[in-house]
Amino acid sequence: MKKLLFSSMLLAGLTMNAEAQDFPDDIKPLMSKYTCTACHKVDTRLVGPAYTEVAKRKYTTARILELIAVPKPSNWPGYPPMAALKVPEEDATKIAEWINSLAPKKKAKKA
Ligand code: HEC
Repeated sequence: MKKLLFSSMLLAGLTMNAEAQDFPDDIKPLMSKYTCTACHKVDTRLVGPAYTEVAKRKYTTARILELIAVPKPSNWPGYPPMAALKVPEEDATKIAEWINSLAPKKKAKKA
């Protein structure tokens, strides 16, 4: 019981910490299904750029779909090339819209 309370407090602490964002519940299963999680995190660089960084590029949803199917490594100097991935349009659209939802609304610049 005590342990449970402790872990839920820890969880609450984690979700409040902007540095440790996790994928939302509706996106996470897609991310694992299509292996995106192997190379991407929400807000930190892994093999590929953080999705918060991708969001700053302000691509349209359609453009993100294209970039998943046909990546353009030249968009990300200093990163290895991403492998082209086949993601059904419906799921890819959900992912793309979520990525764009991460874009800073105004000038929420962090150091
Ligand atoms: C094997 C590692 C790997 C996997 C798996 C992977 N990515 Fe990437 N991704 C990268 C790298 C590296 C880049 C930056 C270089 C590039 O675009 O080729 C990138 C770039 C991107 C970009 C930015 C494209 C651009 O041109 O700005 C998007 C969007 C993206 N990935 C989405 C996804 C999604 C969605 C998935 C899962 C369906 C996924 N990635 C799976 C490694 C990966």
